[in-house]
Amino acid sequence: MSKTKQTHVPVLLHEVLDYLAPQAGKSFLDLTAGLGGHAGAVIELTTAPGRTTLIDRDPEAVRVLRKKFVDVEILQSDFRSALEKLARQGKRYDIILADLGVSSLHLDSGLRGFSFLRSGPLDMRLDANQALTAEKIVNTWSETDLADILKGYGEEKKSRAIAKNIVLNRPVHTTSQLADIVAKSYRFRSKIHPATKTFQALRIAVNDELKQLAHSLPLILEVLAPGGRLAVISFHSLEDRLVKNFLAENSGTLDAQLQILTKKPITASASEIVSNPRARSAKLRAAVKIKTRPL
Ligand SMILES: C[S@@+](CC[C@H](N)C(=O)[O-])C[C@H]1O[C@@H](n2cnc3c(N)ncnc32)[C@H](O)[C@@H]1O
Repeated sequence: MSKTKQTHVPVLLHEVLDYLAPQAGKSFLDLTAGLGGHAGAVIELTTAPGRTTLIDRDPEAVRVLRKKFVDVEILQSDFRSALEKLARQGKRYDIILADLGVSSLHLDSGLRGFSFLRSGPLDMRLDANQALTAEKIVNTWSETDLADILKGYGEEKKSRAIAKNIVLNRPVHTTSQLADIVAKSYRFRSKIHPATKTFQALRIAVNDELKQLAHSLPLILEVLAPGGRLAVISFHSLEDRLVKNFLAENSGTLDAQLQILTKKPITASASEIVSNPRARSAKLRAAVKIKTRPL
């Protein structure tokens, strides 16, 4: 149960609770527990910390979670590996949540290298034990490979110009150096900071975020109990497309395993966006696992 007061503002919290419908005694798996904002609210309603598993890849987030929750299973792991383990153990959950991406823990500190607004090392690892960093990608990948990830993961229109400028200005060691190089690749100012898409693309590449999600979706379906509910919040169109297609492929037929609860993705209200700008690009999709039919 919760030991300390919550300070983190979780995105689309009311909507998540509506779709997950937590009730006393239900088991709960949070694949991206972060600072435990959503998890705390779900556990308050399931009142079943002993039937709860919280996962996060980031050791710092896990430290926060361990302080905040007792009697809860907390795993420091990427969710793909954790799901493989839980599936092997035959675990099943009534409620599963994935709130993808990064948290304020990553964006608020320059030291983690996720923010172009704060100077720091070009790191961007969610788990500091892994070898690949943004600095390694920026300084060792070919111009073509850099342009490909900027376009593929960042949908960056200036991918070729930025990749060229990065290669010309190597070595690049800090977030502010990289943000300057990207800004100089733009002749005109856009509504968003010019480095937004480059930083997003690098973060996705460093943490292999799309493969993590693609490989995990079938495992999520496996560990979701019959009648169980799933909610996924994504912040990137490529992630949302993976979720949307997976839900569509597993619903709508006589032998389908899922029933989709959100015809269209749920997005944040204008007032939530004002109080929490990160909610701007959030998309929530939810589904329920169909109970096994009698033969
Ligand atoms: C948006 S935050 C979650 C915030 C959380 N819902 C809350 O209310 O505090 C996403 C979290 O997922 C973690 N994460 C991202 N990708 C992950 C992965 N593949 N496996 C495990 N954790 C991951 C990040 O470290 C981050 O803490």
